[in-house]
Amino acid sequence: MARVAVLGAGTMGHALALVFALGGHSVRLTDSNPATLARAKGLMETALATLAEAGEAPDGWTAAHLAQAVTRHDSLAECVDGAEIIVEAIVEDPDAKRALYAALDAVAPPEAIIASNTSYLDIFPLMPAARQRRTLIAHWYTPPYLVDLVDIVGGPQTDPAAVETVRATVAAMGKQPIVMRKFVPGYIANRIQSAIGLEVQQLLDDGVATAEEIDAAIIHGIALRLPILGVLAKADFTGLPMMQLALANRMYTPPPVRGASGSLDALVARGRTGVMAGAGFYDWGGKDPETLFEERDRRLLALRRALREIGTMAGLERDA
Ligand SMILES: NC(=O)c1ccc[n+]([C@@H]2O[C@H](COP(=O)([O-])OP(=O)(O)OC[C@H]3O[C@@H](n4cnc5c(N)ncnc54)[C@H](O)[C@@H]3O)[C@@H](O)[C@H]2O)c1
Repeated sequence: MARVAVLGAGTMGHALALVFALGGHSVRLTDSNPATLARAKGLMETALATLAEAGEAPDGWTAAHLAQAVTRHDSLAECVDGAEIIVEAIVEDPDAKRALYAALDAVAPPEAIIASNTSYLDIFPLMPAARQRRTLIAHWYTPPYLVDLVDIVGGPQTDPAAVETVRATVAAMGKQPIVMRKFVPGYIANRIQSAIGLEVQQLLDDGVATAEEIDAAIIHGIALRLPILGVLAKADFTGLPMMQLALANRMYTPPPVRGASGSLDALVARGRTGVMAGAGFYDWGGKDPETLFEERDRRLLALRRALREIGTMAGLERDA
């Protein structure tokens, strides 16, 4: 059992606190926004109840048990006091992360491993020199108590032993760590998601299809095969000459990387920032985030259970 501090209690932070607690670790959680820290309690309890109902939580885990396993702290120093692993899950802003790392350097135990959950940032240049040896990225996917992939990568000066400690910790919690040989922004899965995101924004901005139609194309067209075959095993079923022809006879070029999307900007300007605000691309019917997370989690749990039974024809578990 490790003493784990989770910094940031937002979309990812509250869920990561729950993951480590369920993994048997003792967790302290903090956020610079007291309202977010307070909200984390209800979000963790709802997620735990959903997991427990599906038989995916350890026996006897109740809200009271959770309150013991995850304590919430207003002060950074108190949160990281005695921490062995510090999970950084604050806002994806390099200036905010740099400022936090400087503050951490002053208060964190010297041997604490600092594991950032950053989605795209090269955080290593943001970290004070003395902390480089014990700094790495461990990047999770939302909701991390259901999505098993964790991208792990060290920086130029990271001690391989720190990488191995986090890999082993994550694997022992039943997750699927992938240790990358070097940092690339977006790792593997986020790069692929980004490519999909660019296409989707282009289709929306060009008025080719609605949000509902695009999601229908993904859910009914692309999604069914992915969990069984991934992309490259699916290519073997497609036949590789067909892929050669598709490349050679491309009728369009993928959208260029752009800094903004008109349809996205318009939604955000209207306060439609997603589930947390009750609306984004979709109207979420006045339901609060806890209810919506629960509805999503129930479906993900059922799908995960089914996939375990079905098995995959691609991926690392083939070697297991
Ligand atoms: N949302 C996702 O699906 C997702 C998935 C994987 C990784 N990530 C990464 O996880 C990190 C957090 O993302 P999120 O979606 O949870 O963001 P979020 O905005 O929901 O939460 C970030 C939290 O950090 C807090 N914060 C900001 N500065 C702080 C500080 N100095 N000390 C303590 N708390 C501070 C904010 O108050 C906020 O509650 C980012 O690096 C993001 O790239 C997000």
